Amino acid sequence: MSNFTPYKLPDLPYDFSALEPVITAEIMQLHYSKHHNAYVTNLNAALEKYQEAESRGDVAAMIALQSAIKFNGGGHVNHSIFWTNLAPVGKGGGEAPKGDLAQAIQSEFGSVDSLIEKMSQASVAVQGSGWGWLGFNKAANRLVIASCSNQDPLSTLGFVPLLGIDVWEHAYYLQYKNMRADYVKNIWKIVNWQNVEERFSQAKK
Ligand SMILES: [Fe+2]
Repeated sequence: MSNFTPYKLPDLPYDFSALEPVITAEIMQLHYSKHHNAYVTNLNAALEKYQEAESRGDVAAMIALQSAIKFNGGGHVNHSIFWTNLAPVGKGGGEAPKGDLAQAIQSEFGSVDSLIEKMSQASVAVQGSGWGWLGFNKAANRLVIASCSNQDPLSTLGFVPLLGIDVWEHAYYLQYKNMRADYVKNIWKIVNWQNVEERFSQAKK
């Protein structure tokens, strides 16, 4: 029988209303309590079934569960990063990147504004549901901008995730309707660059 430790919804590091006016409390509440929570619940259910299949040596059943694990596990991984990538204005949100990260941005993109422009374009251009990412290419020792479909984590491209922009409609539609570009433009006001920098120094180790 199953004996794995179930994944848990991590605490949100601020109140639902803390990111207003960039993201409304209503969106935050649904996004965290319903969407992220569902990824965690469904991941645990899939892993439990996987373990049962494994214990009876049913490889076909194990393979059949892999897409559910990828989707819901990716959803859990991505959202856990996303919440910490954001911070309320006055509590770090939108404050300029510093230190090694600022230097790496300068050498890779020329300026923070240029990074913002490129990553915004990549995020707005995602077809259907997915994510825009600033990641770290360890092998090349370079920052990269990338996008992923659905809940595919950035690790599927071989990069370490530093900063993600969720461009699923559930992330913005109640407030921005079809104007994904406006949502992406505004989200920079609440990016927690300190968190991005911590992830960057961790990734370089
Ligand atoms: Fe989401």
